[in-house]
Amino acid sequence: VLRRSFSTTSSRNVIKNVTVIGGGLMGSGIAQVAAQSGNNVTLVEVNADILKKAEASIATNLGRVAKKLYKEDPNAAKKFVEEASSRIKGSTDPSEAVKDSDLVIEAIVENIGIKHKLFKSLDEAAPPKTLFASNTSSLSIGEIASVVKRKDKFGGLHFFNPVPVMKLLEIVRIPEQSEETYQAFVAWGKSIGKTCVTCKDTPGFIVNRLLVPYIAEAVRMLERGDASPRDIDTAMKLGAGYPMGPIELADYVGHDTTLSILQGWHDKYPDNPLFVPCDSQRQLVQEKKLGVKTGEGYYKYNK
Ligand code: 3HC
Repeated sequence: VLRRSFSTTSSRNVIKNVTVIGGGLMGSGIAQVAAQSGNNVTLVEVNADILKKAEASIATNLGRVAKKLYKEDPNAAKKFVEEASSRIKGSTDPSEAVKDSDLVIEAIVENIGIKHKLFKSLDEAAPPKTLFASNTSSLSIGEIASVVKRKDKFGGLHFFNPVPVMKLLEIVRIPEQSEETYQAFVAWGKSIGKTCVTCKDTPGFIVNRLLVPYIAEAVRMLERGDASPRDIDTAMKLGAGYPMGPIELADYVGHDTTLSILQGWHDKYPDNPLFVPCDSQRQLVQEKKLGVKTGEGYYKYNK
């Protein structure tokens, strides 16, 4: 039974029309990789201004990918960007945007009430075939799915920042998820060039369960004054082979994100010392110094 439920697949991808709800850092990245792999993508945001910003960031990042893929051929690079961009359309109406969707991926704010409201209305608006997924990094997939009727068609598709570069996709199962849905998620994940791993619906899935406590431990080390931020980062890059040190990674992911993950886990598991939110991170969030995206976190960045 264990082997069967964790098996990989050789099924063919059947997903072609993808709706991404939320055009932030993660949602834009997901829309981009889906479009550059040939999917028709509808990206949903709350207003036209935010959609415009998301589209601009996708255009920049598509340019970076194209440059890498077609180093010697600027015309092919241009064509790649144009074709991928033409497969993405914006929308401010989630119900309309799922009308012909094979897969909906939600990447909105980490608030269970807001996610419930969204999925409830999508469940009514989307055709029966549509699969639903959440890119949540801190909430339970089962809890999010509790408001929809199509629990057999629900799962977690958890991407990593920067989405166009990071090769991993975590596929999160819930007990009600059908084998067919799981196989469709795996086939689609492969079709967009990701390596898929399968995990249960436990806090942090695989990566964040290990990465977030590691980041918090590094911040606590800094708070104790055991070493400077630079030296902690240099140590983990050169001593453990990580591409970024934990303090710069915390700035990169965003302190609002890691703090909300820790806070959620701490509320649920108050006795686990690894999940205690860090004071200095709380302070940074209060001061709106969220890291790279606001120009300052533990380090300063030129915007
Ligand atoms: N879109 C497209 N391409 C991008 C990109 C983006 N957003 N960001 C970087 N790249 C490309 C660059 O163009 C560059 O391409 P090249 O090799 O052809 O020059 C390549 O990626 C490397 O980028 P840089 O040269 O700018 O910098 P680095 O070599 O330092 O790499 C990094 C940057 C890929 C971010 C690397 O430092 C890294 O892997 N860091 C760790 C990231 C990580 O751990 N992410 C997971 C965070 S946890 C998470 O997301 C879960 C969530 O739930 C919280």
